[in-house]
Amino acid sequence: MTSVVNPAEDPRDTGPGSDLHLELSDGPGGRRGALTRALRDAVRTGRLTPGTRLPPYRSLAADLGLARNTVAEAYAELVAEGWLTARQGSGTRVAHRAEPPEGRRRGPAPAPRPGRPAYDLVQGTPDAAAFPRTAWLASARRALTAAPNEAFGPGDPRGRVELRRALCDYLARARGVRADPGRVVICPGFAGALRLLGRVLDGTIAVESYGLGFHRSLLTGAGLATVALTVDEHGARVEELAASDASAVLLTAAHQFPTGGPLHPERRAAVVDWARATGGVVLEDDYDGEFRYDRKPVGALQGLDPERVVYIGSVSKSLSPALRLGWMVLPGHLVDAVLEAKGERESWSSTLDQLTLADFIASGSYDRHVRRMRRHYRRRRDALVEALALRAPHIRVTGVAAGLHAVLELPPGTERTVVRAAAWQGVAVEGLSLYRHGGAAGVPGDGLVVGYGTPPEHAFAGALEALCEALPPAPGE
Ligand SMILES: Cc1ncc(COP(=O)(O)O)c(C=O)c1O
Repeated sequence: MTSVVNPAEDPRDTGPGSDLHLELSDGPGGRRGALTRALRDAVRTGRLTPGTRLPPYRSLAADLGLARNTVAEAYAELVAEGWLTARQGSGTRVAHRAEPPEGRRRGPAPAPRPGRPAYDLVQGTPDAAAFPRTAWLASARRALTAAPNEAFGPGDPRGRVELRRALCDYLARARGVRADPGRVVICPGFAGALRLLGRVLDGTIAVESYGLGFHRSLLTGAGLATVALTVDEHGARVEELAASDASAVLLTAAHQFPTGGPLHPERRAAVVDWARATGGVVLEDDYDGEFRYDRKPVGALQGLDPERVVYIGSVSKSLSPALRLGWMVLPGHLVDAVLEAKGERESWSSTLDQLTLADFIASGSYDRHVRRMRRHYRRRRDALVEALALRAPHIRVTGVAAGLHAVLELPPGTERTVVRAAAWQGVAVEGLSLYRHGGAAGVPGDGLVVGYGTPPEHAFAGALEALCEALPPAPGE
């Protein structure tokens, strides 16, 4: 079957557009499959160039003698694959990165296939360009100048007392943590803390059904068994602990990672009750507690019972993961065991960095930096939410009240295709399923975890634009 659609004013518009000759061949997928192949082929061979607007469903359907839905579904499939883009108000167009392969290309178009991503929306890293170099350097200079000679010796396995004191003040004030310097242990980031705690705990530890696989493997690598607690919109269902044999639980209470909500107040109380009743331990991963935007600050769970909750923090989101600096505030009964596990020097953090961070906090630079970054990330978060409202209003975005990432809910079964479509648009982004615990049920379903902290400022608008291009169209569009 062939079709020729009539010319339009914009040379790249097939409205009733410029000549669009399609030959629908027999093959798998019936008429929809035939149309998808024909369109893909037209893009691949360069007959349809980037930016070309395709005819509305109705006119192409009428022209080819197909049902309107068949055309809509074929367009949607090609959008999800990254060949086409759909934008409200500007119709369906050939994607800018879907150029024909080398040799068949017309004009000086860029490379056709997904190569090195131009935009990094993988969650995890803060904006590296925003590291407060000047203030950090000033703190380093002051700290080094003031450091006593003994600071250059092996020191206290808990870490420098200057830092532990500064952290106690800061955490009490900003996060509601109840701490004294004797119970604070400095470690190489959250991962360093988890590695140590894995050696101290035994038996089974409950983890959230969504989280970082790397963290789970640190626990299993230390010989612990893990059991997953279902995550819903109120965080982990801690009532499931009662039916498990877990003697500890790891929670991202202030901002569930990665789904984004705070643990419901009743569940906060319930998990502490569980720990008290059973002698269990709660590990609280407060990885981005500083970055909250529109919701009431959620204080640390540790404040409810410092004898049952290990509070764990890190500068990886607030400053940089490259510093490898984190801290634990431990219940009294765990301090000795953790120090023993820490051993002789092997998992210590640089004393000079510790002294620098102590000065950075005590001088107010940390608060200033966090406030500045909160405004910065909030602007980015707003830009992401606005772009989605404008370009993809049918995509629900959640987990935006805090942190450096958001979750975009996708229609069931589309996650992999959308991640691939994003790669075609030059965007590195991860699907939500990547964070699902192996043994967990598939709730909340398909999604994208969009980290908005990483791209440099000049690339952020482009990253959003490219992301929106990769999203599936609204049903029926
Ligand atoms: C869930 C979660 N916990 C903790 C951290 C901090 O890890 P670390 O301090 O080991 O860099 C991160 C990343 O920054 C994270 O995503």
